Amino acid sequence: MKRRNFLQKAALGTVGITALGATASPGLSAPKRETIEEPTTSPSLPVVIATWDVKGATKKAWQSLQEGSSALDAVIAGCGVEEANAEGQSVGIGGLPDREGRVTLDACVMNEKGDYGAVLCMQNIMHPIAVAKKVMEDTPHVILAGIGAEEFAVSQGFKRENLLTEQSKIAWENWKKTAQYKPIINIENHDTIGMLAVDKNGIISGGCTTSGLAYKMAGRVGDSAIVGSGLFVDNEIGAATATGLGEEVLKTVGSYLIVELMRQGKSPQQACEQAILRIIEKTPNFEDFQVGYIAVNKKGETGAYSIHEGFVTTTYQDEKNTAITPDFYNKK
Ligand code: GLY
Repeated sequence: MKRRNFLQKAALGTVGITALGATASPGLSAPKRETIEEPTTSPSLPVVIATWDVKGATKKAWQSLQEGSSALDAVIAGCGVEEANAEGQSVGIGGLPDREGRVTLDACVMNEKGDYGAVLCMQNIMHPIAVAKKVMEDTPHVILAGIGAEEFAVSQGFKRENLLTEQSKIAWENWKKTAQYKPIINIENHDTIGMLAVDKNGIISGGCTTSGLAYKMAGRVGDSAIVGSGLFVDNEIGAATATGLGEEVLKTVGSYLIVELMRQGKSPQQACEQAILRIIEKTPNFEDFQVGYIAVNKKGETGAYSIHEGFVTTTYQDEKNTAITPDFYNKK
């Protein structure tokens, strides 16, 4: 699966329309554009939504829900499909390594009770999202990092294995030939999988898994495993998750912001758009990086928005599994 090359467009879900020169939304100072929501579907449950074109992953989550799994276990099963995909270079096995050639993974889960578990910078374990659930359920902590996370995973029966595939090793070796050992921040090198599920009874859970920024500094952790940034779930309201440059999501606590905006009455689409505008306002160099958000509310309405073109989301709803390119901010 080559998500980076995939720019499929299809008509499903809620689509934002961009109005040039409009006034700022309340609480936001002078964004250059304001987006106006145009709903195109009525919501239904259950629903699964994920970042990127991951129809195999959303199908797995949907099937898990049909078979009676919890929303949390559906998300873990769905994300696990991508973590096990050695061709994908963004999560699990095959993830692009840090600048020293080590594949380090971050993941978290959050359930309808507000319970949260995460692993940061963990090596050698293919399914960090499943380990994150174990941290949540079987330890007195919410985050385990590094060797502690790896040793905990092994103690729970997870297998240690080499996650650096030949393809990713070659990509890293090629990068080293020209690299100036600066973190390269562009819109191509991070495709985190965030997934949100609402079951037929409106129970909401989410998960987020990543190998982080390609060729990052050793020890770097992004947003994906940090509660409120890469993922937030509030079963009364809805959930949100992020992909893209984690540093910017962390600084604006993006997923929590989206859920709080939904609490204040915004639709998932409007909330995602405002969270992107928050980054735009605070970051003059937004041309240089990508961030994309997805969100869902308790009714099953979904939203998605990104800074630049190229972001893709997959939604499984009404028996249809569809990838779309959502609307985005930076229209030339
Ligand atoms: N969003 C993934 C990362 O920045 O690590």
